[in-house]
Amino acid sequence: MIATRTAIRGSTASARATAHFLKCNGTHIGLRPTFVIAQHVQTPASQRPFTSSNSPRIKEFFEKKETEKVRKTPAAWAHPLYTEEQMNAVTVAHREAQTMSDKVALIAVKFMRWGLDVATGYRHERAIDLNEKDPEAARKKFAMTEEKYMIRNVFLESIAGVPGMVAGMLRHLHSMRRMKRDNGWIESLLEESYNERMHLLVFLKMQQPGLFMRFMVLAAQGVWCNALFFAYLVSPRTVHRLVGYLEEEAVITYTRQIKDLDEGRLPKWQNLQAPDIAVDYWKMPEGHRTMRDLLLYIRADESKHREVNHTFGNLDQKEDPNPFVSEYKDPEKPHPSKDLAFPKPTGWERHEII
Ligand SMILES: [Fe+2]
Ligand SMILES: [Fe+2]
Repeated sequence: MIATRTAIRGSTASARATAHFLKCNGTHIGLRPTFVIAQHVQTPASQRPFTSSNSPRIKEFFEKKETEKVRKTPAAWAHPLYTEEQMNAVTVAHREAQTMSDKVALIAVKFMRWGLDVATGYRHERAIDLNEKDPEAARKKFAMTEEKYMIRNVFLESIAGVPGMVAGMLRHLHSMRRMKRDNGWIESLLEESYNERMHLLVFLKMQQPGLFMRFMVLAAQGVWCNALFFAYLVSPRTVHRLVGYLEEEAVITYTRQIKDLDEGRLPKWQNLQAPDIAVDYWKMPEGHRTMRDLLLYIRADESKHREVNHTFGNLDQKEDPNPFVSEYKDPEKPHPSKDLAFPKPTGWERHEII
């Protein structure tokens, strides 16, 4: 515990104070996850969320680097604003596989989901079955802890950041090679991969993966990136559908984390505050900067990726404009947008928007 009696200005200073505390107390920053509880007695309430409350603070694993001349490096893509109501309205959804390409995409995702469950020890259905018979045994065998969820999230996000970049790069090369316009798709694809990398960075602020996990991420990226590259050349529509199904799974995963948190199964996250990087990126309003709020923002992002990719999977890949950055002749009518103004979990059909 630490009581910082002097006024600390801004987020950098607070991160520095935390780092200083860790140093002074000889806290080992190793490869294993460690959560640290630090109490700050704070100054201007308008600047940062941690006031004189007892809220636990995360240990920041990598610090913002100070340089002599640079004041701040803002996010390349400003995140659209989400209201609390919009984020609470995000639901689990599934788009029925209609075509052969949809079915291939769905089977591939189910297979990947199974692999990830094995790698991260996640057994939701089996846990629920056993819980009905013997709750204590179920808790011992399958309970998802904060650390297990965090490992899963890190792996999931390191995978999720790849497709947008691969698809964006291939469309970029295609546009130059064919000397044709791209119609605005590249921007959304790159922005999506940027957003996924922000998810990853936020989780890495809270938990450093061990050597095995780092190896798994490396190996998965090597296979996944190459597989997507060739798959996108063969059938971009199938890849967008596959990403749409992956994002359905991501919404399910974050919904479960929020539920587990609400039902008291993740006590370490109960009063945990979101790291500064997250507060800055999502412009999280004061009083709404907890771990739960963070999960709500991330889940909302995943629901947007789900909608974007299912919609892209419905479009003419070569001719249609990107409906998420287009202006509409009738702006009053619900239409695709970057924010959560008109959510459409299973994607927009082509005839509705083009
Ligand atoms: Fe994500
Ligand atoms: Fe996503």
